[in-house]
Amino acid sequence: MTDRYAVIGNPVAHSKSPQIHAAFALETAQDLHYERLLAPLDGFAATVQRFRSDGGRGCNVTVPFKLEAFCLAQAWSDRARDAGAANTLDFRGEGIFADNTDGAGLLRDLMVNLGTPLQDKRVLLLGAGGASQGVLGPLLEQRPAELVVANRTPHKASQLVEKLPRRATGTRLTGCGFGELAGRNFEVVVNATSSSLSDELPPLPNGLFAEDSLAYDMMYGKGLSPFLRFAQMQGATRCADGLGMLVEQAAESFLLWRGVRPSTRSVIDSLRSP
Ligand code: ATR
Repeated sequence: MTDRYAVIGNPVAHSKSPQIHAAFALETAQDLHYERLLAPLDGFAATVQRFRSDGGRGCNVTVPFKLEAFCLAQAWSDRARDAGAANTLDFRGEGIFADNTDGAGLLRDLMVNLGTPLQDKRVLLLGAGGASQGVLGPLLEQRPAELVVANRTPHKASQLVEKLPRRATGTRLTGCGFGELAGRNFEVVVNATSSSLSDELPPLPNGLFAEDSLAYDMMYGKGLSPFLRFAQMQGATRCADGLGMLVEQAAESFLLWRGVRPSTRSVIDSLRSP
């Protein structure tokens, strides 16, 4: 019987995950079907249970259910524990295993696809919501010289930094407001705020992008986001949106479920072509 997987969210109609996983399945000759499931805002757990009893083997989880997905599990990967949130559930025996592949997806896109290692770099992460929480631990593990989390509401950035389990990375890790970024510059700037969704630009100071810098927006869409337009005007050397991260986090989930890593390049290219 064909194994069933799904992405569960609200909204979920826009999700490209079915297309991505269908391409992975074809390439790796895995017999699986992947669908979208809209869960009512108060009905995430029930939707997961129903899907499971209908033969589901696992699921991806998207907004706004990543925290609930974490709480629904009985076992967790270290990276899910660090994030306190899950984007991947694997139904195992009677239980549920929760993973978070967002950080690994971002790192693969930055380091492999965009050829940007983070070790010893000055890295700025914008935002202190769920998206930042999912990637902060993995970014820190790359041992940048400095990792600054900046947020519109400064105390949320400090809180996010304080609650991250400490590891001896040698990285200077701090949280602050956007105002405190004045006069500073970074080699990698990652926008993990949801500002691009409302077509807004976080209030960033001039001069944020160092020579030979990469600006990365975790959101993706047609054309450049306000953040990437700003980065380009401010002289960032390279700009990238989050489409590569989307495909890479999906590949990590696929690897967890199926034990085989699909190749991602052609899938990223085909999603980019009009
Ligand atoms: P997500 O799960 O996408 O991270 P979230 O948890 O609601 O969503 O967090 C949204 C993040 O984007 C927050 O860091 C938010 O800043 P605040 O904590 O100050 O609310 C940030 N954000 C949203 N719109 C923004 C804007 N127009 N400018 C700057 N930051 C913005």
